[in-house]
Amino acid sequence: MKTLGSRVLLIVGILLLGAIPASAQVLAPFSTWVNNRGSILNVGWVAVDGAFGGTYTNNAPGFQCHSTYPVNGIVNPTGAITFRVDFWDCNTVTTWTGRVAGRRMPTKWVLIYNGRRMTGADYFTRQ
Ligand code: BTN
Repeated sequence: MKTLGSRVLLIVGILLLGAIPASAQVLAPFSTWVNNRGSILNVGWVAVDGAFGGTYTNNAPGFQCHSTYPVNGIVNPTGAITFRVDFWDCNTVTTWTGRVAGRRMPTKWVLIYNGRRMTGADYFTRQ
């Protein structure tokens, strides 16, 4: 006969096993996302805990550093996402926060340039 403790452990184990791959599934590895400014987020690896890495190509008009940079971020099983790019040669670091919902990802960003702060929004669509 199973004790109450072992049943609880079994249920917790099943829930954990279900939750861990879900964070990876919400953001597909090796997926490409383009925003409303023409910039490209290429997601490479996505770890089981939701951490991910890839590249970000900035094509936004009105900004400098139209080049490709490493990107790092984290996504959780509900789709909440944050990622960061260091545009090192422009003295700019930008952090996006948003939500992955299928093939759409609305985000807001905070950009720090030489200690000055700018905010905005980018809408990414999976290609
Ligand atoms: C700079 O011009 O200082 C560096 C490039 C910054 C690009 C910004 S980050 C937020 C916005 N979304 C983009 O895709 N590009 C611009």
